[in-house]
Amino acid sequence: MTDRPTLRLKQGPTATRVLGVGSTQPDRVVTNDDLSEIMDTSDQWIRDRVGIIERRFAEKDELLVDMAVTAGSRALADAGVDPSEVDTVILPNCTMPSPIPNAAAQVADRIGISSPGAFDLNAACAGFCYGLGVASDLIRAGSSGQVLVIGAEKLTDAVDPTDRANAIIFADGAGAALVGASEEPGIGPVVWGSAGDLVDSIYMREHKYIYQEGQSVFRWATTRIAPIAIRALEAAGLEPSDVDVLIPHQANLRIVEAIAKKLRAKGAREDMVVADDIKYSGNTSSASIPMALDHMRAAGTAKKGDVVLMVGFGAGLSYAGQAIICP
Ligand code: UT7
Repeated sequence: MTDRPTLRLKQGPTATRVLGVGSTQPDRVVTNDDLSEIMDTSDQWIRDRVGIIERRFAEKDELLVDMAVTAGSRALADAGVDPSEVDTVILPNCTMPSPIPNAAAQVADRIGISSPGAFDLNAACAGFCYGLGVASDLIRAGSSGQVLVIGAEKLTDAVDPTDRANAIIFADGAGAALVGASEEPGIGPVVWGSAGDLVDSIYMREHKYIYQEGQSVFRWATTRIAPIAIRALEAAGLEPSDVDVLIPHQANLRIVEAIAKKLRAKGAREDMVVADDIKYSGNTSSASIPMALDHMRAAGTAKKGDVVLMVGFGAGLSYAGQAIICP
């Protein structure tokens, strides 16, 4: 009998953390009044039902990859890390104009990252939390050193501008996080899942425009997502009272508030800061969580060392959440 060779495996560091964060939004501000000039809606309806005051729309020649390059570069600058030190780029998104080519490879090249592993990840509005979980586990397994995760969306390409149910919600932007090894754990285990039986509640009609059954997604999000957030805390060995900052996907301010209320009923503190970035950013799908984190760090409402609980949810239906330590 010949000896069979055994495969050698790598072992990475035990812990990871977010080293830096960055984001970008288009310059063009679109108010509710602007929208009410082109469709049957009103500032009052949008504020009351969704919580959005204004959002940003990209110009025609401002692409998803352009926003991803800016957000990714800013996350590297925030971490003080040179592009040459990154070996993997994950780009959660669901609005690339076509599936080929992916966004990640060209974005990495434009940032100056040389021949990284690069792939897009589609878990819609849960994409960033999925990407962060994959990044952390790649590093811990020894497969990657430093991983750049960039959630980027140009949702205005995917929305019928005359569809008042969707055109008032969705917007454009990108947010990124650089992930690397850490002595102390800075990213908790990801808790994720899906409900493929509800696939028809959000989809693209004829590969063109997003359609969603708003009310049923709303009910699902307000009942099923807080328990996922609590499971993410448990997975990290934390209690609801440990959470300093809660960042749910910015789909609708009423959903955000419902999730916060459920967490407080389970012991989260009254002074827990709750992200309300949707007010000025709209719903930017996979970009919404890292963009909110970046804005909250800049505003001082999320501080270095804070326990931040993030939870994403959306088409698939898909969901994912984890606790992190704010960089
Ligand atoms: O990010 C991915 C995950 N997505 C979500 O989590 C979205 C979850 N769903 C929602 O956030 C909400 O369902 C929407 C914001 C999409 C819609 O709000 P809603 O309170 O559920 O409104 P609705 O669809 O039940 O419509 C209520 C009424 C209807 O009129 P009638 O039939 O009662 O006369 C709609 O035609 O509001 C009307 N309506 C509007 N009125 C003014 C719908 N859109 C608008 C609008 N302006 N933009």
